[in-house]
Amino acid sequence: MNNEIPPSARLEKLRKNGLLIEKAFFCGSWQSASTGKCLEIFNPANGLKIASVPSLGKEETEQAILYAHNALQDWQKVPAAKKANLLRKWANLMMENAEDLAFLLTCEQGKPLHEAKAEILYGAGYIEWFAEEAKRIYGETIPSLNSDQRIVILKQPIGVCAAITPWNFPNAMAARKVAPALAAGCSTLLRPSSYTPLSALAMAVLAEKAGIPPGVFSVLTGSTEDVAATLLDHPLVRKITFTGSTETGKELLRRSAATVKKVTLELGGNAPFLVFEDADLHKAVEGILASKFRNCGQTCVCANRIFAQRPIAAQLSQMLANAASKLRVGNGLEEGVQLGPLIGPWAVEKVLDLLQDATNKGAKILCGGKKHPLGANFFEPTVLLNCSNNMRIAREEIFGPVAPIIVFDTEEEVISLANDTPYGLAAYFYTRDLGRAWRVAEALQTGMAGINTGIISNPTVPFGGVKESGFGLEGGRQGLDEFLITKYLCFAGIDPKN
Ligand code: SIN
Repeated sequence: MNNEIPPSARLEKLRKNGLLIEKAFFCGSWQSASTGKCLEIFNPANGLKIASVPSLGKEETEQAILYAHNALQDWQKVPAAKKANLLRKWANLMMENAEDLAFLLTCEQGKPLHEAKAEILYGAGYIEWFAEEAKRIYGETIPSLNSDQRIVILKQPIGVCAAITPWNFPNAMAARKVAPALAAGCSTLLRPSSYTPLSALAMAVLAEKAGIPPGVFSVLTGSTEDVAATLLDHPLVRKITFTGSTETGKELLRRSAATVKKVTLELGGNAPFLVFEDADLHKAVEGILASKFRNCGQTCVCANRIFAQRPIAAQLSQMLANAASKLRVGNGLEEGVQLGPLIGPWAVEKVLDLLQDATNKGAKILCGGKKHPLGANFFEPTVLLNCSNNMRIAREEIFGPVAPIIVFDTEEEVISLANDTPYGLAAYFYTRDLGRAWRVAEALQTGMAGINTGIISNPTVPFGGVKESGFGLEGGRQGLDEFLITKYLCFAGIDPKN
């Protein structure tokens, strides 16, 4: 283990110092569910129970919404510099507590400790970024058609927001949604995944410590039916921001329609990763490893299909299989581990199912291909050759450590294959030909593309997809707009002569 102290003792220590908290945070205080109902949280690496958190009901969620609505009345008037200061304090506290937050994240989510630490810094980076952007919410003036009028455009907070976040990035996805909402002057209710609520609660502990006023940021733990559905249905919630599957996103969109909420959806992906014959193959393999095996393949932007141009396909496949088979699988708390467990046995079953379909249709396993002997949630890093774009493994999000390789001949062919999916989140390609780089970047139907890199996420850029991968942007200066309304003011009666 990375730390001398055994994990159970370290969790106990975090419980004592308040970073591991087993209450929800709403109506300005830390509360249990009125029914006493709880959700139990387990470590996916060993199945041990870590903690339990309240399973709140519909009524408590409604109370939280009303309280957030009241808090909004003052928060929206707080000057930008003061909001920025509070957000910055929050980001600093996250960075100061990065070791403990990372430990907690690995315990509930499973990713290796170094990745968990990177996620905490990534999350804090969003808060820091939006602390600055809070100061740059600019309006506009428009030359009027008439000398008697002046036209002004104001940006104002949209209102109470609800953020619904996934288990794969329990800290960063919350930060990416809550920070811009708060910076825009909105109060925000966060409903974290029931697999990984502890990181979100720890963030709220630090937000409170930073001085974010009561009701401005709440964390509501509980079921989809009681908490998420109430947030979706409530007329005072004016904005929903969600990261998760396309299937759930569609349901959420339908449900938000009843109260015509503004919605941001960051949904599933099926990222193509193209390697052209002129690419630097060593760099391409590094890029595939980074993109495919980050968080054990459980990211929306993971390479889901590797396209290799025929002249280099055999060499690239072998290089990738050699590198992948050396990745160290294990409990994320152990030193040197590169792949942790998947989130649950159902995730392993899905990977096995896709693999079975692929091998039945002719895919060849170059390495891995089985559950890992370490336990129910572990899977071997796997590379598959002879895949085709119509196998299920190339049509569905794998969300596991499996890299299917598809061989292609021409640029035109691979663009058409890459775009032949309802998804459009991220894409990656490796080439040293500048003309091709532009052509391919422009032709790919995705919201983001990495050219000669396998990692594209950072707080300064607009993260988001097209097609069934969703709409709306997170991060960058664009991320703030999602939480603002644009109000047009027409001042008349200015020129008494007209
Ligand atoms: C995701 O998988 O949804 C987010 C990944 C990232 O921010 O890089």
